[in-house]
Amino acid sequence: MQRSRIAGIGYYVPKNVYSNNDLSRFMDTNDEWIQERTGIKERRFADRLEETTTTMGVEAAKIAIERAGITAQEVDFIIFATLSPDYYFPGCGVLLQREMKMKEIGALDIRNQCSGFVYALSVADQFIKTGMYKNILVVGSEKHSFAMDFETRSRNVSVIFGDGAGAVVLQPTQNENQGILSTHLHSDGADAEILAMYYPGASANKWLKDKPGYPDKELGGLFMTTEQLESGAALPYMDGPAVFKKAVVKFPEVIKEALSANNLTEKDIDMLVPHQANLRISQYVQQLLGLSDDKVFNNIQKYGNTTAASVPIALCEAWEEGKIKEGDLVCLAAFGSGFTWASALIRW
Ligand code: UT7
Repeated sequence: MQRSRIAGIGYYVPKNVYSNNDLSRFMDTNDEWIQERTGIKERRFADRLEETTTTMGVEAAKIAIERAGITAQEVDFIIFATLSPDYYFPGCGVLLQREMKMKEIGALDIRNQCSGFVYALSVADQFIKTGMYKNILVVGSEKHSFAMDFETRSRNVSVIFGDGAGAVVLQPTQNENQGILSTHLHSDGADAEILAMYYPGASANKWLKDKPGYPDKELGGLFMTTEQLESGAALPYMDGPAVFKKAVVKFPEVIKEALSANNLTEKDIDMLVPHQANLRISQYVQQLLGLSDDKVFNNIQKYGNTTAASVPIALCEAWEEGKIKEGDLVCLAAFGSGFTWASALIRW
């Protein structure tokens, strides 16, 4: 069966840089805490009015498409991963199709948060392998800044996340020594609520007995009272230490799963590109797998955690810096809300 390969890759980050000290103007936090606990020095925030998750995705996609040597009209399927869509519905895939004046091709949105890009890549890989599509655009993009609360009550969340986008074009290859070797997807919903944004949603408090919910109406009810909004009910929630503990187990597990599925070992990895959740998580995984510094790529220091965009942005930067060369074994791995986690092994 034919394999799929990354034929073009690009990324886009907004020009507005916010340092840790900038954030301490809005909330009780400081550079020392943020750097020590997360490794983050600064992040980018999109222009409030001009930039959206879709427009950033378009900028990354333009570069990926050009590098793949095709035009936007030749893309035959779009997969868009995000947790911060422009609209509750429709998804960003169709907005990107409109903005890039593409043909009336299929557009699929993926809502798998931090592992969204690796999930999207896996879906694209299946479509290429079966021969259904030849040029799939896979995008991961986030405009977190629109939904974050920059008050002290949310400091454990809002100092971590940043905005940006990454994209790849996947094409078939007949070269047996190149392309995506395998992808591995997992989920466990047992702790779905410990890293989540509950509202707006249709649960009407079914899962959230002790949290403020919607008015108790016989029909409808997608209205929040001012009190509920002010209480922070519609803000992202994260139990950071609990997520951290799970992440450091699942990252190595899913990386080892990918290696053993291909009869490879940690020693064969040329570059590990982990989801940029926390520098301490990456360093722990690196140590556990016995990888040297030049075999793990991190850029959370500059961009924070960009969720579905973090893997393609990091992959693209690593490649642009000449740290990934033809024939290299590249491992992508991600873990996040859901929980969902995933890995991909690529022969570059
Ligand atoms: O990408 C999606 C998946 N997400 C993750 O993988 C995130 C995983 N978790 C983490 O990265 C870490 O748990 C955090 C970076 C979120 C937090 O670091 P931590 O070392 O686990 O800190 P903590 O939440 O246990 O908080 C320790 C202290 C608390 O104060 P007290 O109760 O000890 O007095 C917090 O209130 O740090 C305080 N704190 C802060 N202080 C200054 C929390 N956030 C901040 C802040 N600035 N921004």
